[in-house]
Amino acid sequence: MRALVCKQYGSPDDLVVEDLPDPVPGPGQLIVDVAAAGINFPDVLLIGGKYQIKNPLPFVPGREAAGVVAGVGDGVDTFKPGDRVIALPETGAFAEKCLVDATLVTPMPDTMDYAQAAGFTITYGTSYHALKQSAGLEPGETVLVLGAAGGVGITAVEIAKAMGARVIAAASSEDKLEFARSAGADETINYTETSLRSAVRDRVGKGVNVIYDPVGGKLAEEALRALAWHGRYLVVGFASGEIPRFPANLALLKEASIIGVWWGTWAQKNPERQAQNMHELAELVEAGKLEPRVTGSYTLDDFSRAFRAITERRVLGKVVFRMN
Ligand SMILES: NC(=O)c1ccc[n+]([C@@H]2O[C@H](COP(=O)([O-])OP(=O)(O)OC[C@H]3O[C@@H](n4cnc5c(N)ncnc54)[C@H](OP(=O)(O)O)[C@@H]3O)[C@@H](O)[C@H]2O)c1
Repeated sequence: MRALVCKQYGSPDDLVVEDLPDPVPGPGQLIVDVAAAGINFPDVLLIGGKYQIKNPLPFVPGREAAGVVAGVGDGVDTFKPGDRVIALPETGAFAEKCLVDATLVTPMPDTMDYAQAAGFTITYGTSYHALKQSAGLEPGETVLVLGAAGGVGITAVEIAKAMGARVIAAASSEDKLEFARSAGADETINYTETSLRSAVRDRVGKGVNVIYDPVGGKLAEEALRALAWHGRYLVVGFASGEIPRFPANLALLKEASIIGVWWGTWAQKNPERQAQNMHELAELVEAGKLEPRVTGSYTLDDFSRAFRAITERRVLGKVVFRMN
């Protein structure tokens, strides 16, 4: 099988496409013929050796795929060859075939195509968990989403809207803000042109109830200052490359909560609540309230261009690899 291989930590440009032996499923595992694999910002961190978890080298990156079950190992009775599935392997999705524990596989909803299914779980799973469990978002509250046109950002816009919130989308360009409006954002702020704090004040005098921040860096403190009394600030990621530091008095003055979100680990520790979240998300897709937005697909050979779209901050929504 053809696969994208990381042999040294560094830039995604250092990856290589290689022919590797087809994987063989062990007990409790299955093999998926990958039709599409979702590309996420954390893949860039993992390839760079900068993620929370370091993968031993060499490895095939990629943590979410959609495709067809090609074979099952001993003891697997939940899936059979031919089933269309979503797989969430620890690594290995950027390949024609992917080996995965059966417990990390779910049926693929009929409402999605392979590209949408491949890019669904991590982004929507993260944003739903963040807004539902971490923030306890209530209908009628106001949510400010930073990086609102990116992979997780656009899903936060959609989900917050579906949960009955007023959504302010903030991003770095007009086309990104237009994209966020198409996903349901009520209002938008271009944070490269205007002060985030005063733009929020103009729109919501008392401040916003929830901030969803996958960007970090210099925006973070400005955003925190725009929180309302008892506001919740969700620390989702640091796509800017800079981990922010907050003056603690800002939390005291608003009785605000700064809440860390690490969906992958939460999902592992809470499999039943995660399954319930995914069930509710699938219902929202079926009801037409969520529309997974895949705006780019690449072949494995085109990996450099695919990752540059992410590192050069150009992606709208989701990009995926498509296998032949
Ligand atoms: N906590 C969790 O469980 C969890 C789960 C998934 C992802 N994440 C994290 O969330 C963050 C976003 O992931 P993603 O997959 O949504 O990424 P993405 O699609 O690349 O979006 C990131 C957004 O961040 C903004 N940005 C600002 N500076 C940037 C820079 N130097 N390079 C790239 N983007 C920059 C961009 O928006 P503007 O141009 O509009 O500023 C971009 O749209 C990452 O840090 C990722 O590790 C966390």
